Amino acid sequence: MKTNTPLWRRKAVYQVYPRSFKDSNGDGIGDINGIISKLPYLADLGIGIIWLSPCYKSPKMDLGYDISDYLSIDPDYGTMDDFDNLVKEADRLGIKVVMDLVVNHTSDEHPWFVESKKKDSLYRDYYIWRDGKGDNPPNNWTSQFSGPAWDYDPDTKQWYLHLYSKKQPDLNWHNPKVLEEVEKILRFYLDKGVYGFRCDVINQIYKESLEDGKGHAQNGRGVEHYLMKDGNHRILRTLYEDVFSHYDCVVIGETYNVDVPNGIRFLENHELDMFFQFDHVNVDRHPSQIFALPFSAKKFKGILYKWQTSVSWNANYMENHDQPRSVERFGDKGKLYDLSAKALAMLNFTLRGTPFIFEGQEIGMRVYPGFDARKSKDVSCLSIYDIAHKSFHLPNFIAQKIAGLHNRDDSRLPLSWDSGDNAGFSTCRDTWLPVHPNHKDGYNVEDQSKDPESILNFYKKLIRIREGEMSLLEGSFEPLSTKGGLFAYRRRYQDEECLFLLNLTKRGCCLPAYLRHVNGRVLLSTYHDSDPSDMRRLRPYEAILIKLN
Ligand code: NOJ
Ligand code: CA
Repeated sequence: MKTNTPLWRRKAVYQVYPRSFKDSNGDGIGDINGIISKLPYLADLGIGIIWLSPCYKSPKMDLGYDISDYLSIDPDYGTMDDFDNLVKEADRLGIKVVMDLVVNHTSDEHPWFVESKKKDSLYRDYYIWRDGKGDNPPNNWTSQFSGPAWDYDPDTKQWYLHLYSKKQPDLNWHNPKVLEEVEKILRFYLDKGVYGFRCDVINQIYKESLEDGKGHAQNGRGVEHYLMKDGNHRILRTLYEDVFSHYDCVVIGETYNVDVPNGIRFLENHELDMFFQFDHVNVDRHPSQIFALPFSAKKFKGILYKWQTSVSWNANYMENHDQPRSVERFGDKGKLYDLSAKALAMLNFTLRGTPFIFEGQEIGMRVYPGFDARKSKDVSCLSIYDIAHKSFHLPNFIAQKIAGLHNRDDSRLPLSWDSGDNAGFSTCRDTWLPVHPNHKDGYNVEDQSKDPESILNFYKKLIRIREGEMSLLEGSFEPLSTKGGLFAYRRRYQDEECLFLLNLTKRGCCLPAYLRHVNGRVLLSTYHDSDPSDMRRLRPYEAILIKLN
């Protein structure tokens, strides 16, 4: 098949969370040489791009999303030589590497911030320092990790802004020097052959004003002053003109609370090639984020269809390092677990856009049973626990429940490679997070590689099918009208057409009359005997991809 479609539209992306992927030197922490050792696995899986979560030098208070030197690699993960080697070896196997770009904030241990703590330093203006209002912070904004978004420096008697933890001070994007510095970082990696960036919370970087916010404290009060402002769009457009347009690369935005008009603007103005929206992963969250809601397949469908039909290209994902594992949320936790994992995989790969896989998703990794939020390694979970328990005096079990909902350790367990000691992740017993006990029950790469019916082998088929079908790659997305948890949509490209049917519930469901006799060939199904030519019902989690005649 000949195509001019750029690589980032053709290939699946695989997110590697370096700390949890594979440990090469027995310290219980994943590292770059570990990733290199598993590149053949990724090539065999069929993905074309790795998104590497941060491996830059960092105190790792937010596990790498707090960078103290953008131009070096953290010793936990290796050296710059190792990194160069990774890019080279990946390239040899036809895999590109996308880095994580975290420039809303740095670590407070970054030399820029250390310098900026001196009031007369040239670096003072790299960050957002302000006088307080009496003894109080400059405004009422709250951090995305809960608590006030400002911290006081007794030496200079001013406050600095941090939308995340106080060890993650926000950069001041009003200062042209910050833009210059970031452009240098981008060129440094692009010149090494890196294929682009996944840009962390990139729609929040420009603070238009520092007036008080109106929202609720627990939802990041103040967002209306910094979310997707014109200045934000201007900066992204400048980065495109100055840097990205000169390279063959991809720019992926992590865009919390993005709405359709801003999404369209990001894409049409070449600010981003694609972006992550969060509506569908919030489907089972109360807006307060304090408790979970029951999953509704119908609502899920509505959200996905909304994005599919409103923007030209989506970054499609079910999970990542900030979200609990998806099958437990959107599929079945019980006997139909594997079946529902496959159904969700098919959904993710048949939507229009680039499909993302978070490490472990391809073997159906699950959240860890019974984590104690108080012992979490996740700064946001700990901070939510503290606020709930210490500031709001909620009893421990309630505080734990609320914080547990946000415990990102859940999805960050070491990847289970085999059924042996430490799940084959490390030779060290004391892995940085425990391995999942179900690595002994077939939820590991080695066992699943050998089982033709495994989730892993299903992913492999799916990846290849998508790559070979122009209608799935570039075709239009045309939803058909269906009720409840039944999905039906067509993907059409010139005279080629696929139909996708999915029952995302644990009960059988009736097909509408117009879908009962479909003329086509089954490319893939979660059941072996799906027969679209004569079908009145879909069974639980039955998903069928049909190439129409
Ligand atoms: C989004 C990242 O995905 C998350 O892990 C991180 O904590 C925040 N941004 C802050 O950088
Ligand atoms: Ca290691």
